[in-house]
Amino acid sequence: MKLELKDIDFVYPKSDRIVLRGLNVSFEEGTVSSIRGDSGAGKSTLLYLISGFSKKSGGQMLWNGEEVTDLDTYRRTTVGTISQSYLLFPTRTVLENVSYPLILDGYPKEEAEKRAKELLESVGIEDIHYKKLPEKLSGGEQQRVAIARCLAANSKIIVADEPTGNLDQTNTQGIINIFKDLAHNQNKIVVIVTHDPAVAEEADIQYFLKEGVLVSSLEQ
Ligand SMILES: Nc1ncnc2c1ncn2[C@@H]1O[C@H](COP(=O)(O)OP(=O)(O)OP(=O)(O)O)[C@@H](O)[C@H]1O
Ligand SMILES: [Mg+2]
Repeated sequence: MKLELKDIDFVYPKSDRIVLRGLNVSFEEGTVSSIRGDSGAGKSTLLYLISGFSKKSGGQMLWNGEEVTDLDTYRRTTVGTISQSYLLFPTRTVLENVSYPLILDGYPKEEAEKRAKELLESVGIEDIHYKKLPEKLSGGEQQRVAIARCLAANSKIIVADEPTGNLDQTNTQGIINIFKDLAHNQNKIVVIVTHDPAVAEEADIQYFLKEGVLVSSLEQ
């Protein structure tokens, strides 16, 4: 399975700057891809497109050879996003946040909570935090809860914007290992935007976003 972007252009409404200009890339299952680039280069913009949150201005996005036309369905069934701003539900506890995708998926509450606890444990969040609201956690802890919630949705494509931005080295390595496991052992497609060269270099394929297109590190 693969996600292909063909000749993608993107311009924000009422802006005259073309952020993405004829971008081509193919993300294959079983791989982790990293994307680096200057601040303002358009990395988050690209991830919003891949996540189905925004619409391209031109070009095609193909999922297994078929153009993605229904972004709502695509978002619900195919892609999971870890955003630069955490987007946890502020009025729900940590455990409720992570259980939520599982309950949507039809898991009974008890099973959903059991699975949610396993996921929280896998990202290093201790059970003393489960009943708290997200605002009571540190930035890095919230980031890891957001990762656990994304994993709970079990999406084929996982897209993460600076997922280790607030984390120390140990937690960063833990998250990298989770992403690699998802790609290499669960055949997912993982796409990470990061400013951290150490994180980027752990990916199977490394890209740089420059002047509106993705350049592979091999072409540098
Ligand atoms: N909602 C918006 N409306 C208009 N322009 C925007 C909007 N969001 C971002 N931009 C512009 O689009 C360009 C790309 O922004 P984007 O957020 O994708 O950059 P980025 O590569 O993710 O940067 P960073 O590394 O700082 O997160 C920037 O010039 C930015 O000012
Ligand atoms: Mg960004």
